[in-house]
Amino acid sequence: MSGPGRNPASPTMHLLTLETTCDETAAAVVTDSLNVLSSVVASQTALHQRFGGVVPEIASRAHVERILPVIDEALRDADVKLSDLDAIAVAHTPGLAGSLLVGLVAAKSLAVSLDIPLVAIDHLKAHIYAGRLAAKRDIYPCIGLVVSGGHTSLYRCDSPLEMTHLGSTIDDAAGEAFDKVASMLSLPYPGGPSVQKAGEKGDPQRYRFPRSFLKDDSRLDFSFSGLKTAVRYEIVEPGSADFSAVELDEQTVADLAASFQEAVVDCLVGKSLLALKQAGLNTLCVGGGVAANGRLRERFSEEAMKHGFELIFPPMSLCTDNAAMGAIAVEQMKAGDFADLSVDARPGLVRTAST
Ligand code: KG4
Ligand code: ZN
Repeated sequence: MSGPGRNPASPTMHLLTLETTCDETAAAVVTDSLNVLSSVVASQTALHQRFGGVVPEIASRAHVERILPVIDEALRDADVKLSDLDAIAVAHTPGLAGSLLVGLVAAKSLAVSLDIPLVAIDHLKAHIYAGRLAAKRDIYPCIGLVVSGGHTSLYRCDSPLEMTHLGSTIDDAAGEAFDKVASMLSLPYPGGPSVQKAGEKGDPQRYRFPRSFLKDDSRLDFSFSGLKTAVRYEIVEPGSADFSAVELDEQTVADLAASFQEAVVDCLVGKSLLALKQAGLNTLCVGGGVAANGRLRERFSEEAMKHGFELIFPPMSLCTDNAAMGAIAVEQMKAGDFADLSVDARPGLVRTAST
């Protein structure tokens, strides 16, 4: 593969970015001045719905079927040909191993055949970079909260590529808890949007669910498994696995959904405020699928007004998995951070239907 900027006559560089970390097959074309020329996301939600979560084997097979049509569409939408590309970027960590490999193989093949550089993206850094992309200005240094189906973590972000881990969930991710609680309430997958919708008519104070670690100012961690179990015990007796015999009335479902959501939001907001205070920073950027939650956005906006910090929330389309946030590759290229063909998938820990 050749070095960066193989077409010196062209004032604009075009990057193709790929994202296949979990269950969305996505491709985007971005320029080195951070213009997103196209962004295509093929969702697999319908395939995983009946399992109440992502089934890794189904996800990788679906990526194989979709990756080339999605790349074609992204190029067509951007009015860019393969021969116009100056680099290929791909998310290689964290995610489901089989899913990551599909994107990586596609990216490596294109980089070799077009003789252009390859950039390997960290999906979590990209989720925070979505805020930078949306803000269209520098947002660093900031506190970054990545809150998705696989992750709930706080970082001190000194630049797009320098993120220091401050705390994480010790068990379930927030989005995973939304998905599991939705399943207990017989609400459709993905759970986040359906719990949010059901909770709109609910009383968030009816059930006083636990807020783990919230009062402990010595740590910036989260725990949602106790909360999930507390919701479960409002529905079935401890020890019972049978939800099918339980019929909840509409108002109880709404109240459970609203009370659960309020507990998650309290924890996310409380720890983010603590992180801002401890780090002495004044900017908070929230990324990941759960950042699409209306109540979370409302509560963070209220706190930002009250405490006077700057709040960066990407639009919904940049919160859930997408390839436009792979524009972080532009920063990596500027820093000379290129990958070679030995770059591998680094899965890390991601939730699935069975966990
Ligand atoms: O970032 P993402 O698209 O994929 C991962 O990297 O995990 O996040 C997906 C997660 C799912 O758990 C989904 O239920 C949750 O984001 N989610 C939401 C909302 N929209 C998506 N959670 C709460 N409220 C929402 N509106
Ligand atoms: Zn994600």
